[in-house]
Amino acid sequence: NKVVLAYSGGLDTSVILKWLEDEYGCEVVTFTADVGQGEEVEPARAKAQAMGIKEIYIEDLREEFARDYVFPMFRANAIYEGEYLLGTSIARPLIAKRLVEIARETGADAISHGATGKGNDQVRFELGAYALMPDVKIIAPWREWDLLSREKLMNYAAEHGIDVDFAKAGKKSPYSMDANLLHISYEGDILEDPWNEPEEDMWRWTVSPEKAPDEPTYVELTYEKGDIVAIDGQAMSAAAVMEYLNKVGGENGVGRDDIVENRFVGMKSRGCYETPAGTIMLKAHRAMESLTLDREAAHLKDELMPRYAKMIYNGFWWAPERQALQALIDQTQEVVNGVVRVKLYKGNVIVAGRKSDTNSLFDEAIATFDDDEGAYDQKDAEGFIKLNALRLRVAARKAK
Ligand code: ARG
Ligand code: SIN
Repeated sequence: NKVVLAYSGGLDTSVILKWLEDEYGCEVVTFTADVGQGEEVEPARAKAQAMGIKEIYIEDLREEFARDYVFPMFRANAIYEGEYLLGTSIARPLIAKRLVEIARETGADAISHGATGKGNDQVRFELGAYALMPDVKIIAPWREWDLLSREKLMNYAAEHGIDVDFAKAGKKSPYSMDANLLHISYEGDILEDPWNEPEEDMWRWTVSPEKAPDEPTYVELTYEKGDIVAIDGQAMSAAAVMEYLNKVGGENGVGRDDIVENRFVGMKSRGCYETPAGTIMLKAHRAMESLTLDREAAHLKDELMPRYAKMIYNGFWWAPERQALQALIDQTQEVVNGVVRVKLYKGNVIVAGRKSDTNSLFDEAIATFDDDEGAYDQKDAEGFIKLNALRLRVAARKAK
């Protein structure tokens, strides 16, 4: 039997690799994805080879991740518990999908991942895998083994001939981190006390707003059907849009967040996030919709959004309710076309202009009371208000 392992090349998943071979006696296929975490993925090949792995998958999924996961999610203005832009949550369904596809390709019947037994990620990987491959076997070593401390992990690595130095190479960080095109996250260590402010050197993608330039940066974002297709007039792919906005956002201190969130498994957890592109995209997309979306369509989206965000947070990307909501959201985006100009300044994203030649519903004549066509007759407002007041007046009379 064979298992496909989501393999980063780091110490943890290298130990998992060996452990799977020893404990389950199975052949391991490794899968390493570039989802924009900003680290080379190619070194994972040599590490897997050094451990005798024959089937090694290394893939650049940045474009697919941005185009088919991040962008659809941003059409909904999704945000979990009013703060979290779902950077880790939205990457898991794609990893789950590739894990089971590779399982099919290689004739494996199981998948394995390095998420702990206490978090959301295990749920997301596994719900995704079950939804796409109902009979898949899942091996979650962190829920099974007793290598629960750093020391035990290192000892296991040493005993089993894993090159610990290369396995833990890279900048040492005390935090549990996860990065992709949408964000980088930090949990654990001093953050476990929600009263502790993170140290400045924790943040990797953004300068502090205090140190950001005194001059603002302007960017013009062109939207087609709710997606950004060009920046400053230059056509760009979804992944290129995100890379560009991460860069200019980061330079201007945009996108830091520090929150306590409710995990699906029941506990509260404290996390810090840097989401520069996402923070700009959310603000700009709302500005584009404000001009082009019908009021009730917009309000309906807003009412459904927290449920949509929760589906993604909880790992139900591949569930019918998420797909149904996505179809509704995507339909509303037909008219979300135009350009938004934003100003990035010391941690802020300020909308400085919006226009839509084809789909603006903003009618200057109606808004300025200078309406020759008579679309809005102020006399109509009297009856409108009176009928709306009827039940209030009836109740008020009764109360007297
Ligand atoms: N708390 C965030 C979430 O549930 C981030 C999780 C980060 N995952 C990690 N393996 N470090 O989406
Ligand atoms: C983990 O437990 O693997 C990371 C945190 C989370 O999944 O919520």
